[in-house]
Amino acid sequence: MSKDLEGGVWDALKTIRYPGMSRDIVSFGFVHKVTIDGSTATVELEMSTHNAEAAEAVRQEVEKAANGVPGITATSAVLKLQQPAKRQAAQRSIAQDPGLLPEVRYVVAVASGKGGVGKSTVSANLAIRLAQLGHRVGLLDADIYGPSVPTMFGISRRPATDGQTVEPFEKYGIKLMSLGFMVEIDTPVIWRGPMVMKALEQLLGQVSWGALDYLIVDMPPGTGDAQLTLTQRVPLSGAVIVTTPQDVSLIDARKGLAMFRKVNVPVVGIIENMASFACPHCGEVTHIFKSGGGERTAQLVGCRFLGSVPLDPAIAEGGDAGEPIVVTEKDGGPHADAFKVLAEAVMAEVESPPTPQLTIV
Ligand SMILES: Nc1ncnc2c1ncn2[C@@H]1O[C@H](COP(=O)(O)OP(=O)(O)O)[C@@H](O)[C@H]1O
Ligand SMILES: [Mg+2]
Repeated sequence: MSKDLEGGVWDALKTIRYPGMSRDIVSFGFVHKVTIDGSTATVELEMSTHNAEAAEAVRQEVEKAANGVPGITATSAVLKLQQPAKRQAAQRSIAQDPGLLPEVRYVVAVASGKGGVGKSTVSANLAIRLAQLGHRVGLLDADIYGPSVPTMFGISRRPATDGQTVEPFEKYGIKLMSLGFMVEIDTPVIWRGPMVMKALEQLLGQVSWGALDYLIVDMPPGTGDAQLTLTQRVPLSGAVIVTTPQDVSLIDARKGLAMFRKVNVPVVGIIENMASFACPHCGEVTHIFKSGGGERTAQLVGCRFLGSVPLDPAIAEGGDAGEPIVVTEKDGGPHADAFKVLAEAVMAEVESPPTPQLTIV
């Protein structure tokens, strides 16, 4: 009997969504335990979030939903809020300087084995989408070879500085910094190792990022020394790998994955970009490259498949015009939706405790 009641309560909880998200609280792993005593249910919730109000709203909804289960007459939902920073601290490697970015909760790198797969496009849209979901977000363009944040955000000025610290730009609700703001974009930048380090340290340590929930780092392409150094210097919570469905790109993605694992940076998952093309005339969806490659690679290397982004001229145009697609579609649209799914998947992977076991009492 109590098992049936417990099952009923779990089912009821699966209908509750965390505010602003499209996934339910059970699949997010927020429900730690359900116990039944007679007709009384106790639900233990564990969330790692800075948003105590949203967590409390969920707690109240849980009580209401469980009380609606036939046979349950009273429910007490207990909320345990965890410090999201804990997990991040544990994941930082010793080579990283804890003094860099002390006020940033999660630093997430967006990387790829090769250039041109849409790393910057994904970084920008992901960052803005996270901000639209209520987070405090920064975007650091660390692509020393081809910075693209100035173009993607339509900013060609130099940032303000008092000689000590540099003020990040703010646009579309996020803070922005790029080496492209410091050097002439048309000048080919030839960086030697020590210069890269110095420039990056300045971008991390001397920019007034302030308190942030997420700092998205648009990494340079490839898996060379610069990238390796960066993964060791930046206190990363995890890395997102962007790939296109082509074989060659997937092989590169696997190289990138191996690199992060070598330096103990957890891989958040794989994002497949330019996955499909919907014909603007007839709506037929064509998989320009092979379909499902990102998902297969994710399975093969044992990491999460975070989702895919279609190939669409509107996405490229948004980037060129200084208005990323999620800004154009801020009231909803297919691409904004795709990036919402990605943002939620990244959040779930970076913030949530592991999925709890269902305990039968
Ligand atoms: N899903 C997409 N649909 C259409 N064009 C895209 C898409 N993703 C990226 N692009 C375009 O492809 C080019 C390379 O993307 P970019 O984000 O700069 O790649 P990377 O940072 O990996 O070098 C850019 O012109 C960009 O606008
Ligand atoms: Mg780029």
